[in-house]
Amino acid sequence: MTEYFRAIGDYDVRMAGPQHVEGARRVMLDTFYRDFDYGYQPAWHWDVIDLDGVYLRPARHALFVATLGEEVVGTTAVRAAAPKSPPHPRELVERYPAESTAQLFRVYVRREHRRHGLARAMVEMARRFVARTPGYEAIYLHTDTRVDGAEPFWRSLAVEVYDGRDGDPSRFQTVHFEIPIPSWEEDLLAEQRVLETVPMA
Ligand SMILES: CC(C)(COP(=O)(O)OP(=O)(O)OC[C@H]1O[C@@H](n2cnc3c(N)ncnc32)[C@H](O)[C@@H]1OP(=O)(O)O)[C@@H](O)C(=O)NCCC(=O)NCCS
Repeated sequence: MTEYFRAIGDYDVRMAGPQHVEGARRVMLDTFYRDFDYGYQPAWHWDVIDLDGVYLRPARHALFVATLGEEVVGTTAVRAAAPKSPPHPRELVERYPAESTAQLFRVYVRREHRRHGLARAMVEMARRFVARTPGYEAIYLHTDTRVDGAEPFWRSLAVEVYDGRDGDPSRFQTVHFEIPIPSWEEDLLAEQRVLETVPMA
């Protein structure tokens, strides 16, 4: 039994192990080509090449996946990272320094598996991981609001901290968000809910 496990209908949401890396990479690459109009960009997406080295090995980083049977259908990654400036404003880098900021990346769910609560469950698990990992003081992310579903999804979970949109649809229309780190009481309640959903051996 693991503390980072939750069943949602026929799906499981869990912390990724080495057996999930290939499937997680496929979800990410497919998202770049099917949901974003620019495909894989090495300068932005370098982490996807070595998910094991970037997310599974470092103690303060993590990768969460949603699975249906053996197939990975969703991903969410956490790593200690500040927003980059440029292109993002300097004030955000000062507010969210790399050492104390858990930045969320690669929150993707395959189209045919959306609206089952998988992304929300993965982000909730990532929040609990951050709460239990020493040194983090904030959970930060940014998103391109031109992508279908991205803005309403984040507004359902996170608090806007900076609106970088300029209204030009040919450029990124980025909004920056923060998600509160759960208190230990909230973490304990979430843990009880998880234990209730884990089948007895
Ligand atoms: C954004 C994304 C990750 C959401 O995944 P998901 O598993 O479908 O999201 P959930 O089912 O957990 O949704 C949770 C809540 O977010 C909101 N939401 C999610 N997608 C939405 C959409 N397309 N339209 C309106 N609200 C939406 C709803 O409030 C939803 O709750 P509800 O279904 O009970 O109404 C998915 O649409 C996706 O992969 N998009 C492409 C990649 C992307 O833009 N990722 C985010 C930026 S990195």
